[in-house]
Amino acid sequence: MKNIFLIGGGGHCHSCIDVIEQEQVYLIKGIFDVKENIGKTVMGYPIVGCDEDLKNFISPDHFFLITLGQIKSADLRVKIANELKVLNAMLATVVSPRAYVSKHASIGEGTIILHSALVNSNVKIGTHCIINSQALVEHDSIISNFCHVSTAAIVNGNCKIERESFVGSNCVLREGSIVTEKSVLRAGSFFNGK
Ligand SMILES: CC(C)(COP(=O)(O)OP(=O)(O)OC[C@H]1O[C@@H](n2cnc3c(N)ncnc32)[C@H](O)[C@@H]1OP(=O)(O)O)[C@@H](O)C(=O)NCCC(=O)NCCS
Repeated sequence: MKNIFLIGGGGHCHSCIDVIEQEQVYLIKGIFDVKENIGKTVMGYPIVGCDEDLKNFISPDHFFLITLGQIKSADLRVKIANELKVLNAMLATVVSPRAYVSKHASIGEGTIILHSALVNSNVKIGTHCIINSQALVEHDSIISNFCHVSTAAIVNGNCKIERESFVGSNCVLREGSIVTEKSVLRAGSFFNGK
């Protein structure tokens, strides 16, 4: 198995841990969180450092996944991704074995597809995205970098979601919708926009 380090030890990290354990591709070696939490554990995995310590863990054998959640802003995830880029860190891409991802879809580095998500034909998902549990991304849609499609959201066919956007839980996007960058779509809403 490949070694993985997770960045952010909160609730979203808990969900990611279960997916990573089920996938059995990566072995979780440690978690980065705020300084005060160093030495504590998250679901049995040690918090080994904070952001400033990342540089000491870079190796061709170490993969990283940003496991901080994202609702109102992607700023923190973008900041950490930039740090990882400068450090030339290896990025993990994680797909739950309980998700369905079409062989005609593509998924960027640093992205996680959680349990029971469905990513259909010709979908393109960028880097550092979260496609959360039970989300549906329909045919030919494009999800740009740093987007979070939250639990049970439905992105219908031919949609384009621009970077750093959040699609809330149970939100439905009309087919062909364009969501402009840094949008926050409320949980449970219907998005009709072009
Ligand atoms: C869009 C969102 C980020 C706004 O959050 P916020 O700015 O903190 O807004 P608040 O929670 O203070 O709510 C403001 C008002 O809008 C209402 N409201 C908030 N979200 C709503 C929603 N999705 N549908 C209907 N009303 C909503 C609140 O009840 C509140 O009404 P009030 O002023 O009468 O009390 C938040 O509502 C949301 O959708 N969060 C995402 C939830 C989600 O998908 N989580 C999954 C994570 S995996």
